[in-house]
Amino acid sequence: MALYILPILLVLSLSGAEAAVFTLQNKCRNTIWPGILPGSGQIQLMNGGFQLNPGEVVNVTAPKKWSGRFWPRRFCKFDSAGNGQCLTGDCGGKLQCTGAGGAPPATLAEFTLDSPVDYYDVSLVDGYNVRVSIEPLSGTGPTCKPISCLAELNRLCPVGLQVKRNGHVVACKSACLAYNTPEYCCTGAYATPDSCKPTGYSKVFKAVCPTSYSYAYDDPTSTFTCQDGNYLIRFC
Ligand SMILES: *[C@@H]1O[C@H](CO)[C@@H](O)[C@H](O)[C@H]1NC(C)=O
Repeated sequence: MALYILPILLVLSLSGAEAAVFTLQNKCRNTIWPGILPGSGQIQLMNGGFQLNPGEVVNVTAPKKWSGRFWPRRFCKFDSAGNGQCLTGDCGGKLQCTGAGGAPPATLAEFTLDSPVDYYDVSLVDGYNVRVSIEPLSGTGPTCKPISCLAELNRLCPVGLQVKRNGHVVACKSACLAYNTPEYCCTGAYATPDSCKPTGYSKVFKAVCPTSYSYAYDDPTSTFTCQDGNYLIRFC
């Protein structure tokens, strides 16, 4: 008997060690529609998007070495076939993004697992729409710690970067997105970490969200790693 059970236990424990669990939690007062975009060659998780009601928690399991990003979509309306639109973070008018990215500005939670450690960050490089945090629920390492952008950046958003609906700021563009200059986007003559420096706009983001990427070369203070982590991604 034990001879038959042993291999099964072995397979179960191995498969457990190979996957990472992303726990998505909606702490906002409104519904969030998380979008998920896998890195190139990676599998879709949850077909790329779903509805997450206030207070709801959903576990999403990723295979070993998965990479990709999660972002919140807000003010969405979808019909029963999953067609519609979101005011922020929309991915081609679909509930399930299935490979389509989110329209910026949107706050991003980015992951590259098992490379050989897990890299993760909260990025404002494409702007901000909703408060996002990442908390390792397990995992080890000196920089294996919670990170977030929990400031109400929509309220602090400089006038030139604001995206408005009915007079309210619903998202905040990055300076790169708003003005598309080499200096803000770290392109052309500014395409290296030495030449692309923080700007007045990126400093507004960094001041209130110090563990988030505020511009493309903001790596030293914005990239975190865990060995074998599971992660809580919280909206608001
Ligand atoms: C979700 O995943 C976490 C972390 O792995 C785990 O502690 C929790 O029990 C899971 N919850 C559900 C409902 O499966």
